[in-house]
Amino acid sequence: MILVDQEQRIFTLQTSNTTYQMKADTFNVLLHAYYGPRVEADMTYLIRRADRSHTPNPDEAGTNRSYSLDTMPQEYSTCGVGDYRIPSIEMEQADGSHAMDLRYTGYEVRKGKYTLEGLPTFFGQEAETLVISLEDPASHVAVELYYGVFEEEDLITRAAKIVNRSGEPVKLLKAVSACLDFPYAAPMDWITFNGRHMMERCPSRAALNPGVQSVASTRGLSSHQNNPSVVICRPDAAEDHGLCYGAVLLYSGNFEIAAERAQVEDCRLVLGIHPHHFCWNLAPGESFQTPEAAFVCSPNGFGQMSCQFHRAIRKHLLRDPYENRRRPVLVNNWEATMWDFNADKLVEIAEAAAPLGVEMLVMDDGWFGDRDDDYRALGDWTVDQRKLPGGLEALVPRIQALGMKFGIWIEPEMINEDSDLYRQHPDWALAIPGRAMTRGRSQLVLDFSRRDVRDYIYNTLKAVISSADIAYIKWDANRTLATVWSAQLPASRQGELYHRYVLGVYEMLDWFRRDFPEILIEGCCGGGGRFDAGMLYYTPQIWLSDNTDAVDRLRIQYGSSFFYPVCTMGAHVSAVPNGGTRRTTPLETRGVVAMSGTFGYEMDLSETTAEEQEIMRRQTAFFKEHYDLIQRGDYYRLTDPFADGPFTAWEQVSQDRREVLASVVTGTTRANPAFQMLYLRGLDPDLRYRDQEGNVYTGAALMAGGYPLSLDLFLGDYQSRQIYLKAE
Ligand code: GLA
Repeated sequence: MILVDQEQRIFTLQTSNTTYQMKADTFNVLLHAYYGPRVEADMTYLIRRADRSHTPNPDEAGTNRSYSLDTMPQEYSTCGVGDYRIPSIEMEQADGSHAMDLRYTGYEVRKGKYTLEGLPTFFGQEAETLVISLEDPASHVAVELYYGVFEEEDLITRAAKIVNRSGEPVKLLKAVSACLDFPYAAPMDWITFNGRHMMERCPSRAALNPGVQSVASTRGLSSHQNNPSVVICRPDAAEDHGLCYGAVLLYSGNFEIAAERAQVEDCRLVLGIHPHHFCWNLAPGESFQTPEAAFVCSPNGFGQMSCQFHRAIRKHLLRDPYENRRRPVLVNNWEATMWDFNADKLVEIAEAAAPLGVEMLVMDDGWFGDRDDDYRALGDWTVDQRKLPGGLEALVPRIQALGMKFGIWIEPEMINEDSDLYRQHPDWALAIPGRAMTRGRSQLVLDFSRRDVRDYIYNTLKAVISSADIAYIKWDANRTLATVWSAQLPASRQGELYHRYVLGVYEMLDWFRRDFPEILIEGCCGGGGRFDAGMLYYTPQIWLSDNTDAVDRLRIQYGSSFFYPVCTMGAHVSAVPNGGTRRTTPLETRGVVAMSGTFGYEMDLSETTAEEQEIMRRQTAFFKEHYDLIQRGDYYRLTDPFADGPFTAWEQVSQDRREVLASVVTGTTRANPAFQMLYLRGLDPDLRYRDQEGNVYTGAALMAGGYPLSLDLFLGDYQSRQIYLKAE
């Protein structure tokens, strides 16, 4: 609900459990008053003032030295006019100055959720929109602040639009999506999600100390190294208690999330496009739209915050038809064959997979041009007739005859120098004339800011995809951007290229959705290098990581689950010893872990034993039977796999709380193991739950006393168990 007190100029955003409030003051400065647990009150008493000295005062304040932009909580912080904390916006005005003041000029409330042209957003008719208009009185450059309110999910979205009404050209050097001030001195932690290829989104928690701390990507992609998501919380906050705020940026390119603990211990958080090599030219009348940021505040710890994000993403970010439709259990040939396959080999894998309950074969990298390794052929999107005689027209019916669907891997944004496309169009790759080239996986990046490049790539891919009945696309991107320069942009516009690249990727993804609405697209970026809320708008699932080791995956899935729901996490069972870690884990355990994702296999199923096949048959049957609970249940992290305890556990609870699936994976074994209890969460205390062995416990008992884990689970390394409980 959006409440506007027109007289006091107080704007209140109410969700089921939270309240967000701001006020336009007498000088028309838009001040942030409150964001936290729901209250029905005027919270503007929290906007306090004091003369802190060495904090300048705006002209209107006259001799009142306690009024300073530098110490008061701002909704969208300005630049060069006296607030020295992190600016939300920075411009080069027509006169060369960098000053940007912002004053309130009006507001508008709209039914339904705003959309942003060319950019991903949460959507929903049941949501409401507030637009607040601000303007720089000197230059007349305006900023429109967008707020989306999703009551049930406690989700508040934000974005900003910068409109050049100055009558002269200006340059935008920075414009964040959202700024959130915490105007008090409470100690705060922040949790960021960091890592590297094969070890993405590991949570890292630290106190917000004086000065600026940030996580960012300047790689052109949201990156393996830092995820565009962050939690800010009280030091006592944990899974089931304490005040916390989750924030995500719906953006897949360069980003920066920065937090500043300022002089009087207040905190500021900003999220937006990274200012590195960003310079957007705004001619008179033109505007720039920032990506969207989204927040959930939870008064009750990280568990509730995650549940609300999961619900919001499932319901308001994943688009038709895949927000609710069952996704197929798949087998992908990558780890089985890499580039060394042909049609018969794929059919052999599919023949082994079909009786196990696998529903789709995905043909990975290696089907096009002369792609026998990763040194050649990216850009040449024609079927390799040596490997696939007769093309997809011949192959796909053979897979379908087994009762399976067919999916295909593509990497549209990339090009190898050893390709026909590069030989014809060397200027289509990002490179700086006169400067040596930077390669990644021996490949270059296509200039996706160019319409002609996008059109060509799209049309060649469309021809392949239209040539057969394709149910799924895996969209990969296997390097980061460097030597960023476009042959089609003048020098003065090269600073627009990083963002134009992202817009180009989004646009082509939308072309696929428009022309092939039934195709499920899975995102991928060397595993999880572009696993962000922006991509999820286009690709409802994303390959979580190239690391398929079950034990490492526990950690990656744990970190990812703070924001992203199970149904978005691409996860497969692969062969052992694992290619990335050389670790051997039981097949049952690999299944339990992959099942808390989209689920599938990534191994040569034609080389498995009868005993293994029996286990897999049970796995796919169990997954399908409990699909709704696994994919749409409320998700609880029961232990922290980074803490190296005796086991890792998590849980899914159905919306009506009558069904529960708890998954447990143990670590390395020790003789004579202790009794371990599993403390369940989110149950109905009064219901009686029956497990697979027929034991019955009340919800209250399972939450307070715990579920007794059997001793044999702790004998042998990396054992696992799925405990399914149903209310009587
Ligand atoms: C990336 C992906 C893998 C696989 C290979 C193919 O690394 O993450 O899953 O598709 O590319 O080259």
